[in-house]
Amino acid sequence: MNTPSNRTFLPFSLHLVDLRISIQGVAIVAASDISIPTKAKTVLLGNSGSGKSTLLKALLGLLAAGTVVEGHVIDRITQRHYSGVELKNGKLPAIIRCGYLPQSGSLLPHHTTAGGFLKDLMRHTHTTVMNDWLEFFGLERNEYFDSKLPTQFSGGERRRFALAVVLSSNPELIFLDEPTSGLDDERVEELLLRLTQLEHTMIFATHDYVFASRLADQVIFLENGKVAEQARSDEFFRRPRSEGAKRYCDAWRRLLREHGEK
Ligand SMILES: Nc1ncnc2c1ncn2[C@@H]1O[C@H](COP(=O)(O)OP(=O)(O)OP(=O)(O)O)[C@@H](O)[C@H]1O
Ligand SMILES: [Mg+2]
Repeated sequence: MNTPSNRTFLPFSLHLVDLRISIQGVAIVAASDISIPTKAKTVLLGNSGSGKSTLLKALLGLLAAGTVVEGHVIDRITQRHYSGVELKNGKLPAIIRCGYLPQSGSLLPHHTTAGGFLKDLMRHTHTTVMNDWLEFFGLERNEYFDSKLPTQFSGGERRRFALAVVLSSNPELIFLDEPTSGLDDERVEELLLRLTQLEHTMIFATHDYVFASRLADQVIFLENGKVAEQARSDEFFRRPRSEGAKRYCDAWRRLLREHGEK
């Protein structure tokens, strides 16, 4: 299936320089130099609590009161600088069109049917574009679909619905937090195929090792909020260098072996 049409994107090349995020005085993330090249798919890996979601939210300006974001983001192509305060106020998404799939929560208001929600959305998004993205993620609109409340969709359907909504806003930079959560293996494989087809610049966090290794061009491995490693994906998965990344990859390989994968 073809990717639903989109406008062309202006290239950018983001560098996160000395980024420090603290919440209520506690240091959560410290990244001295991370690069996010245009069109690359970057995966954030790391144990639970290592700061993946916090880093995504900081770049989107979504962190709550009590959060301090220091450092800055430079676009090496336009030479634009985004400082900590600007990031906190969401300047990055204001200049680069960002799309965001949060780790949890539904994009659908609880009291509205899917059809009602999409009707509201259509004020900003063309119906055909929205429907094409729904189809792209394996969902087909009909009367039954439109009449459902968010609670009447399965977890995986809600996730794919949310992905279609994110893509329909025509983002240049997509942030996906745990995109495979709630999806069965077959759906994960399908999603992998779909996301591989997209040319968007993508930063995603996942605990799915196989999904990450197949989709990502580069890996940022976080350990207790620090960037322990940034590497090309093929290098990282072949030979992780930091101790934390080695333990992380070994644990996954053991699990996969136990499930019969080589
Ligand atoms: N609003 C907050 N107030 C206080 N602490 C927070 C807040 N948000 C995140 N944290 C803490 O920051 C750390 C990093 O959290 P974060 O959600 O970024 O981890 P993560 O790597 O996404 O984990 P997971 O893989 O479980 O989703 C955790 O210790 C978490 O408890
Ligand atoms: Mg998270």
